[in-house]
Amino acid sequence: MSQFLVISRDDAFVDRVSEAVGGDLDHWSDPALPADPGVLFSVSRDGFRPDVVILSPDLSIADGLTIASALDAAHPEITVLLVRPVERGLPVAAMRAGIRDLVAPGIDDVEFRDLLRKAARAAADRRAAAGLQDGDGERRSTRGRVVVVLSPKGGVGKTTVATNLAVGLAATAPQSTVLVDLDLQFGDIAHTLQLAPEQTLTEAVSRAAARDTMVLKSYLSAHPSGLFALCAPHSPADEAQIRADDITHLIDQLAAQYSWVVVDTDAGLSAATLAALDRATDHVFVVGTDVPSVRGLRKEIDILRQLGLVPAHRHVIINNADTRDGLAQQDIETTLGHQADVVVPFSRSVRLSTNRGVPLLQAGTRDKAGRHLRHLVRRFEPPVPKSRPTSTARHRKGAS
Ligand SMILES: Nc1ncnc2c1ncn2[C@@H]1O[C@H](COP(=O)(O)OP(=O)(O)OP(=O)(O)O)[C@@H](O)[C@H]1O
Ligand SMILES: [Mg+2]
Repeated sequence: MSQFLVISRDDAFVDRVSEAVGGDLDHWSDPALPADPGVLFSVSRDGFRPDVVILSPDLSIADGLTIASALDAAHPEITVLLVRPVERGLPVAAMRAGIRDLVAPGIDDVEFRDLLRKAARAAADRRAAAGLQDGDGERRSTRGRVVVVLSPKGGVGKTTVATNLAVGLAATAPQSTVLVDLDLQFGDIAHTLQLAPEQTLTEAVSRAAARDTMVLKSYLSAHPSGLFALCAPHSPADEAQIRADDITHLIDQLAAQYSWVVVDTDAGLSAATLAALDRATDHVFVVGTDVPSVRGLRKEIDILRQLGLVPAHRHVIINNADTRDGLAQQDIETTLGHQADVVVPFSRSVRLSTNRGVPLLQAGTRDKAGRHLRHLVRRFEPPVPKSRPTSTARHRKGAS
């Protein structure tokens, strides 16, 4: 069961959170916040480790950001939420402190319950991705990471990023990476990888494959780089038969079998993309350097947050960066409220690689765009599990 910790001196707020989580709540009420966040957890019982920490509006911003940063450094798998009206500069400061979401104090009860549930699930995904077991930090066999590459706009480089990322991951984990083409109508991964699949996503969501993972695996196409691909349907008309539930089940099946499930999507937020995002551990946003692309992405990030689709990891890729007439990186970051994690420059080699059907990272060129795409792959190297805190002194002073 998910564990929640609220930091608040306001009993009415604590009651509200308690109601939203069905009463299963731990509470820190001491105005003095400990420097070691482990102390917060020992208020209740030894070994307690929350999935979600909720910072109440009665905390000062400085205290909230300090404790959030300490939690983020020591326990990045925990989802930290700050309940507070948005004010100038706060979203960026919150993001830097590792706060996953800013929640309006006036949020409706149903929405609040839903948001807390999704926050707990995101923490569970992060724990799984880090290979940590509930509560005690031991290794366990885990679900693979589900990396969804998306953008509100077409033609910005989603397929380029998704295929190169999958090829790069397959180089470190051969036979453990699957690339799924969720651009259901006009997906072109088959062409991009020079594959001629007999079976596609249409067959992969059939009853036989949904029931038996071995059947599903036989529908994947092997690529020389060591990755498997599940290509888009042969006919755009097939999209109408594929339901969001089918996609959810498909992603779950693949994540149970492969370390990496990389998902390419079409522009915008189709039902299939939303279903994949709901299962994602990672969102990879691709943005161009033009105003419509940047503004569109800002809206997309906002709407995903409102929907509670906040992943364990978020990556922002500026692609096709053109220093002559594109927007400056800093302006893009300010509009997005998020720093760019990778900037891939415009390069003719990328276009050539698309037309040849050989991804840049497969060709192993020394091209400048290839260097930055490799940097993206390195962001996904397995996280080193955190060691357990050496001291978890009991501290009941703050317990309510
Ligand atoms: N950094 C880059 N430099 C030069 N060309 C690029 C770069 N990134 C992508 N391209 C080219 O831009 C075109 C569109 O890229 P891609 O197909 O990856 O975009 P997309 O977002 O998947 O498009 P769609 O929305 O249609 O699926 C391709 O021809 C690709 O080679
Ligand atoms: Mg594409």
